[in-house]
Amino acid sequence: MSSRRPMIAANWKMNGLLADGRLLARAVSEAAASAAPLCFDVVVCPPATLTYAVGEILKGSSVLLGAQDCVAAPQGAFTGDLSAPMFADLGAKALILGHSERRHGHGETSVQVAEKVKAAQAAGLITIVCVGETAAELDAGCTKAVLTQQVRESVPENVDSSKLVIAYEPVWAIGTGRQPVPSDVVTAHQLIRSLLGPMGPTVRILYGGSVNAANVGSISCEKEVDGVLVGGASLKAESFWSIAESFQKRVCLAA
Ligand code: 13P
Repeated sequence: MSSRRPMIAANWKMNGLLADGRLLARAVSEAAASAAPLCFDVVVCPPATLTYAVGEILKGSSVLLGAQDCVAAPQGAFTGDLSAPMFADLGAKALILGHSERRHGHGETSVQVAEKVKAAQAAGLITIVCVGETAAELDAGCTKAVLTQQVRESVPENVDSSKLVIAYEPVWAIGTGRQPVPSDVVTAHQLIRSLLGPMGPTVRILYGGSVNAANVGSISCEKEVDGVLVGGASLKAESFWSIAESFQKRVCLAA
């Protein structure tokens, strides 16, 4: 059994106003309390507008507060931007970086992602670095080349591997209901792990892309998969929690 503790992370993306965000956070924290002790880490990453309110609800809970994206600078004249120390100040413990919606929607490069990873780790945050190929890259047989380039360039030198998590999120699987077969997920994770060199065996690698309560079982039984990063299905506490429980069963039964 792997010694890597699974991580189940919720990426709420740009969803939720104050009232729904509070309800959802409360429901997740209650589910975590009733399932305690947990055999995995649970992270909830609301939009920045809800960081404080969700953080207040999660105080004292085993659910970790996370956030989405930051700029590399700690402060300064960056209208509309948010920094890693600002999220840390609100109690965030983790940050999603290099998501394909940033890479492809905002032209973010892997080199920029690496700068953000450095800034987030300097602020004490766990960095969840997303990588993944597009449909065109998959069709062209370039998955390996894309993952290699993204991992090499997005993970900075001297990274703190204890604060590094990689999420393999094929872009074509995000929000589409399509997914790679589990053996392709395992192959991608093994490649990513090998690219990480000596730290590879200890770094958690998550899968993300159309994960839901019905399909998580085929992924959670693969021991190469150290957890999941969940978008749409994390917006309902029941579906998010049944995804998490799939890992609870795997880890606790194996212990
Ligand atoms: P979906 O689970 O909605 O496909 O989103 C995945 C994702 O992008 C998580 O970061």
